[in-house]
Amino acid sequence: MEKGIRIADLFREEQTWLGKTAVVQGWVKTRRDSRAGVGFIELNDGSSLKGLQIVTELEGRDYSGLLGQITTGSAILAEGLVSLSPGKGQSIELRAERIHLYGGADPATYPLQKKRHSFEYLRQIAHLRPRTNTLGAAARVRSRLSFAIHQFFQERGFHYVHTPIITASDCEGAGETFRVTTLDPARPLAASGEDPYKSDFFAKPAFLTVSGQLQAEIYALALGKVYTFGPTFRAENSNTSRHLAEFWMVEPEMAFHDLNDDLDVAQAFIKYLVAVVLSDCAREVEFFGRFVDPDVLKRLENAAASSFEVITYTEAVDILTRSQEPFVYPVEWGHDLQAEHERYLTEKVFGRPVAILNFPRVLKPFYMRVNDDEKTVAAMDILVPGTGEIIGGSQREERLDMLLEQMRLKGISADDYRWYTELREFGSAPHSGFGLGLERLVQFVTGIPNIREVIPFPRTPGHAEF
Ligand code: 4AD
Ligand code: MG
Repeated sequence: MEKGIRIADLFREEQTWLGKTAVVQGWVKTRRDSRAGVGFIELNDGSSLKGLQIVTELEGRDYSGLLGQITTGSAILAEGLVSLSPGKGQSIELRAERIHLYGGADPATYPLQKKRHSFEYLRQIAHLRPRTNTLGAAARVRSRLSFAIHQFFQERGFHYVHTPIITASDCEGAGETFRVTTLDPARPLAASGEDPYKSDFFAKPAFLTVSGQLQAEIYALALGKVYTFGPTFRAENSNTSRHLAEFWMVEPEMAFHDLNDDLDVAQAFIKYLVAVVLSDCAREVEFFGRFVDPDVLKRLENAAASSFEVITYTEAVDILTRSQEPFVYPVEWGHDLQAEHERYLTEKVFGRPVAILNFPRVLKPFYMRVNDDEKTVAAMDILVPGTGEIIGGSQREERLDMLLEQMRLKGISADDYRWYTELREFGSAPHSGFGLGLERLVQFVTGIPNIREVIPFPRTPGHAEF
């Protein structure tokens, strides 16, 4: 099969391509004819936001008769001379000598005619929406960030661990798990008194993981510094712009690191990712600034330049109760901070990322290290302007007696987590880690308001299409 050059590469190396013949392959964004006997095709191949202008001759070429079939959405090949473009806003264009049509797109039925479509409409055509500028740009940024996540950790001596997707534990203890079973819901379960899981695939309750943390801890207490990065699942019945039932989380876990070290890594990590986006996705960021969120560039430059604000949960509650903001949810020590509180702190009070430390023990899962006051745990939430919570982490409880006490208080069976408590019996060591939601990160760097646009196939209550 003939292989053309990617349009992004052509733009990058345009000086060497000028005056040479190139072959490009992609999808037609627009086509228009001029009265002067030439036509213009804007071709995009997904490699960059910017399309390449193909100049066609309406008569006298082998392909001239074909042009009528080349409509928005068609897949074509074009070969021709790379030339300086007289058109404003573009540097080079391709003067077509040969055109091949792979597949047309009937203008009467192709759902992506050149105009602005609503995100809601595009969600219904998630098989075509990556061809739009916005969704294509979001997909490229997501891809670059995913690679940067590996780069950051690999460059710093972390090992990548694959934690299981099917698990018997509920790390966060919030009961938001999806059950994994081969039992037929239409069939009556076992006779009374019998173990209902006896005939189930794993012979015990099993779930899709809500977090790879507990298993990452096993490897951190052997390899020192590890990270896991994969899909996680939460049956949270909340239809918000920041929650998905299936999302990607990156979770580093580090032995001989306390909460302050954890915060240092998290801060360096966010700054690194923001810097990558600013340097490698500059066109996309500029585009998002123009069409999606005018503040996006300022926000990113600010996050890259300033150090995070660090406050305790108790200080956060003080600031919120003293504020005159008309919050929907009241603020009270011992209650969770709501999205409106988080955004007020990071957007209005500080105007930059904020780390909140030491949350009330009752609010957080069993594995977090109990502080000396016995009322709070060594937890860390990082909030960013525009998105709110992007990272949740903590120092883990490494003291066996304290861990068992926490499990008892939270109603967690020590028998079921024997392997976890054994890590505290044999060579226990202080350790900490955190989880960053990839989709929240993409929302932060693009300004895209709804999380359903930053993942290719969003899963939310009532929706699992494709
Ligand atoms: O704060 P969370 O629940 O923390 C944990 O799961 C820890 N076990 C992580 C760790 O310490 N290793 O989730 C971490 C992050 C959140 O800050 C958020 O960015 C994202 O995961 N997140 C979600 N993203 C999309 N949809 C959801 N339903 C999410 N729930 C959490
Ligand atoms: Mg959290």
